[in-house]
Amino acid sequence: MYSYDDYDYALVRERVEQFRDQVARRLNGELTEEEFLPLRLQNGLYMQKHAYMLRVAIPYGVLSGNQLRTLAHIARTYDKGYGHFTTRQNIQFNWIQLEQTPGILDCLAAAQMHAIQTSGNCVRNVTTEAFAGVAADEIIDPRPFAELLRQWSTINPEFLFLPRKFKIAISSAEQDRAAIKVHDIGLHVYRATNGEMLLRVYVGGGLGRTPIIGLAIKEDLPWRHLLSYVEAILRVYNRHGRRDNKYKARIKILVKALGIAAFAEEVQREWQAINAGPAEITDQEYQRIAAAFVAPAYEFLPAQNFDYNTQLFKHAEFSRWVARSVIAHKVTGYAAVIISTKPGISAPPGDVTAEQMEVIALLAEQFGFGEVRVAHEQNLVLPDVRKADLFALWQALDLIGMATPNAGLLTDIIACPGGDYCSLANAKSIPIAQAIQQRFEDLDYLHDAGDVSLNISGCMNACGHHHIGNIGILGVDKNGSEFYQVTLGGAQGNDSRLGKVIGPAFSAAEMPDVIEKIITTYKDYREVDEPFIDVVQRIGIDPFKENLYQNSASPQQQPMEVLP
Ligand code: HEM
Ligand code: SF4
Repeated sequence: MYSYDDYDYALVRERVEQFRDQVARRLNGELTEEEFLPLRLQNGLYMQKHAYMLRVAIPYGVLSGNQLRTLAHIARTYDKGYGHFTTRQNIQFNWIQLEQTPGILDCLAAAQMHAIQTSGNCVRNVTTEAFAGVAADEIIDPRPFAELLRQWSTINPEFLFLPRKFKIAISSAEQDRAAIKVHDIGLHVYRATNGEMLLRVYVGGGLGRTPIIGLAIKEDLPWRHLLSYVEAILRVYNRHGRRDNKYKARIKILVKALGIAAFAEEVQREWQAINAGPAEITDQEYQRIAAAFVAPAYEFLPAQNFDYNTQLFKHAEFSRWVARSVIAHKVTGYAAVIISTKPGISAPPGDVTAEQMEVIALLAEQFGFGEVRVAHEQNLVLPDVRKADLFALWQALDLIGMATPNAGLLTDIIACPGGDYCSLANAKSIPIAQAIQQRFEDLDYLHDAGDVSLNISGCMNACGHHHIGNIGILGVDKNGSEFYQVTLGGAQGNDSRLGKVIGPAFSAAEMPDVIEKIITTYKDYREVDEPFIDVVQRIGIDPFKENLYQNSASPQQQPMEVLP
């Protein structure tokens, strides 16, 4: 994985010292809260309901065992013993004391980590998919491109005060697992027939109060122009983005207002002026970065392993876990493993304790090459496990409560922190997620229902990506009470789609029943092995609606506004 050079260290260290001074001045009253606000946001520090919240970047989701131990140390020493992994490959700590933040940033810097640009109107953490470098369907390893983008965007003075925050995701597999079409810029790297690396560039995607699927602005950008083209897009956005209206400031609104053709034309003009300049990536620079991502020393292993096959045969629970959690690897004899952070009632989705982090760091070293990944679905991933070690790994994960075999299933819920932590929330998310997880504890039922994504956000900012869940739940406030609006048919990945609102919202208490009725309707209509999302596409939302609202003139149901 990428290691900081002297330049990286100096930059991150200087930043920590600068913030230490700013915090000291805030604490002694030299800076007002208003003056301090932009300074702390630039270092990933928010003020939330109970305390400060620190968001730490995990560039393209890659962590070493030692970095994970550092996060465990921070969770234990400065928080309540756990951290919350997010959909954008960050970790959030919710109970931070201001005076301790310079110390935390110091710890992070020592482990080659930081919180720079995890907040504010700048280019945020560049994300990619959790299986980068190992996925069997990968075309090109996207991590060197993500690292190039990270170095280019970190403290790049031209783009530190954009009209609004800016999110870039990059993937290069047949299946998009980085949600690239709901990012401000989404990049897909592929190979031309002559072998050249090209990029397909999507722009103007995003969720929030105006959800939009990104549009392709360029189909075949030569890889050398990655930085200059992104720079051209950002310049056009910087020039025209609606700084006068926070709700209209994202690039998606600009692209919509100008139309993709006019927007693309202006980007093209800008790009032509800079594409042969210093931002052009040379072979040498690409090689320098890519060298950090060379494959580890894989052993030459047989495709079949007798012990593993026997264990699969003998242990139904193990085989169930393998079916959901083990992902095909590009190297024979190896597998990538999803570690579920969704155990149900015992912890909110995405929360991992310090002890669990430490055990996972150890397992990554024992069974892999010491690397851990953070997935968009808020799970963790061990990218390189020998198939022969899967049984031992499963047993070890079970001991720390992280072997729930629910990846991709209904209880693999993406949920934002909602009303329990977030001061912007209209409603709680975590208790809804946990009530649904509790209702669907029966693994046979769950596995029979198959792949269904369920995403929950506590307000229209859409941090939980509810619009692109097959089932989406949005917390809404109605006269001071919490209600939940349900959408159906959303999807992430290659066929990213926005869900449709099914009808009036429900109370919190109704939500497990609502989800059960939705699943029952699906089961009634499905043809053999037909996934949930295909049934919704085939029959539309009306049959679900009928089943949900017939005979249930519940007084708690309130007509709600429908999203645009
Ligand atoms: C309590 C802490 C949080 C606060 C205050 C917060 C705040 C916000 C705000 C204000 C937006 C809307 C921005 C806009 O559309 O202009 C937003 C969007 C978003 N947040 Fe959060 N968030 C928090 C936690 C999280 C967490 C935990 C996750 C991941 C689970 C997350 C992921 C996202 C994502 C993916 C968006 C997408 C918006 C888009 O595509 O336009 N956030 N957040
Ligand atoms: S969706 Fe709303 S409630 Fe949930 S974390 Fe984002 S801003 Fe907070």
